[in-house]
Amino acid sequence: MPKETTLSWTYSPAPESKDQTFLKERYDLFINGKFTKPESKKYFHSFNPADETPLAQVARASEKDVDAAVKSAASAYNKVWSKLEGKERGKYLFRIARMIQERAKELAVLESMDSGKPIRESRDFDVPAAANHFFYYAGWADKLEYAFPNRKVESLGVVGQIIPWNFPLLMAAWKIAPALATGNTVVLKPAESTSLSALKLAEIIKDCDLPPGVVNIITGFGDTGEYLVKHPLVKKIAFTGSTEIGKHIQKLCAGTDKKLSLELGGKAAHIILEDASINEAIEGIINGIFFNQGEVCCAGSRLLVQENKAEEVITKLKARIEKLIVGDPLDKNTDIGAINSKMQFDKIQNYIGIAKQEGLEVHQSSCTLPAKGFYVRPTLLLNAAQTNRVVQEEIFGPVLTLQTFRSIEEAIELANNIPYGLSAGIWSSKGSRIFNLSSKLKAGVIWANSYNKFDPSSPFGGYKESGFGREGGLHGLRSYVNLK
Ligand code: NAI
Ligand code: MG
Repeated sequence: MPKETTLSWTYSPAPESKDQTFLKERYDLFINGKFTKPESKKYFHSFNPADETPLAQVARASEKDVDAAVKSAASAYNKVWSKLEGKERGKYLFRIARMIQERAKELAVLESMDSGKPIRESRDFDVPAAANHFFYYAGWADKLEYAFPNRKVESLGVVGQIIPWNFPLLMAAWKIAPALATGNTVVLKPAESTSLSALKLAEIIKDCDLPPGVVNIITGFGDTGEYLVKHPLVKKIAFTGSTEIGKHIQKLCAGTDKKLSLELGGKAAHIILEDASINEAIEGIINGIFFNQGEVCCAGSRLLVQENKAEEVITKLKARIEKLIVGDPLDKNTDIGAINSKMQFDKIQNYIGIAKQEGLEVHQSSCTLPAKGFYVRPTLLLNAAQTNRVVQEEIFGPVLTLQTFRSIEEAIELANNIPYGLSAGIWSSKGSRIFNLSSKLKAGVIWANSYNKFDPSSPFGGYKESGFGREGGLHGLRSYVNLK
């Protein structure tokens, strides 16, 4: 909790109850509609990063297990799913969406326990957005000829999907819903530190009577993911995660008939022009980098401020981060929860160390952190320069760099001069300036006078090392079909 002197009042703890989250001791692989013991006989623990306690054991899929999952998806594709009419596929997707809504509280609490994200986010964003993706793509399932007029739409077959740990349930929905709507079958691998909500989704899928094999969920580490990428029956890989692994997967798919979409890292710039409403901008920037502990590929991790407004922005940012509540992810008051893993925690601390070595001013809120668990104070890195590693590289934590600029041309230059191009934020009261900037920024998603707003109907994806292919909206259907 922040020190009492910095708040006009302090909040009493308001933790969400864990009672509704029924966790089994051990989770098997979801193959061909059944929970199946791994051929490997190996299991690993999923931990709660808020207090480092183990939550459940999760199966580690071997090459043989991956093969069984892919073959079950291929058989379901050939025998059932590819023959089903769009409106029937849509009914299953609507059913999954409604069941996610029914079990929303359980899913939200579990997501916060397994990933460390604040309950406010999992309850108000992740879980409703996951349901909305199923609703949205359910609507497209019987309207594909309108999505692609005058073309014959063909599904691909078995799709392999590999997802990260920052939005576990939402990424699963984001990937599964368009694949099923377009008539493909799926083998999904969640991230090793956050498999539990995907396994709950498997329970939901089972309860919805989706034909066996249409969705298979296999858990494990990078090797499990790699078996899936290499499997000859897989016709498309959809990957979200680090740029390093994305490039590796691109190499593995080269020379094969596999389609590929990659949604990788980011280093988004917020640009505050002198005519911006500064108070509004501060709120958007706080939301943009401290939302989900900054473990967001589109996090607004670089702040570019027009020079004559820098002093005001820095003063207000320092005051605002002092009021952020860092702590128990299950507490409804918490703004910043736990970092997902020890590995990610160490990475963030390492970058804060690099910033110090590079001579930046490191300003952190003075809050006290819980004794156990992986917590990082909201951090500002002031006096940053474009060549600093903390400006160029993805930190993936609650850390914001600040640079100043004089002209709009300079702001565009600074914003674009990095290896990534996923998203950007513009803060200005002049529409013409917003249009000018948004046409020149090399970023897939640009928010103006707002940040981190999502809707299933909006496409999402990047330029440069942020990947290729679009997810969400009509565009999101395109990478799951062949058009004739
Ligand atoms: P990662 O890229 O290693 O993991 C993402 C997924 O890929 C996981 O399911 C993992 O098991 C799987 N995977 C790992 N190696 C694989 C391989 N050889 N073949 C197939 N699948 C494989 O990401 P990691 O190590 O968890 O995070 C490292 C950094 O990546 C973070 O610090 C952050 O900078 C970035 N990241 C970006 C994300 C985004 O949304 N764009 C999400 C997660 C991490
Ligand atoms: Mg976990």
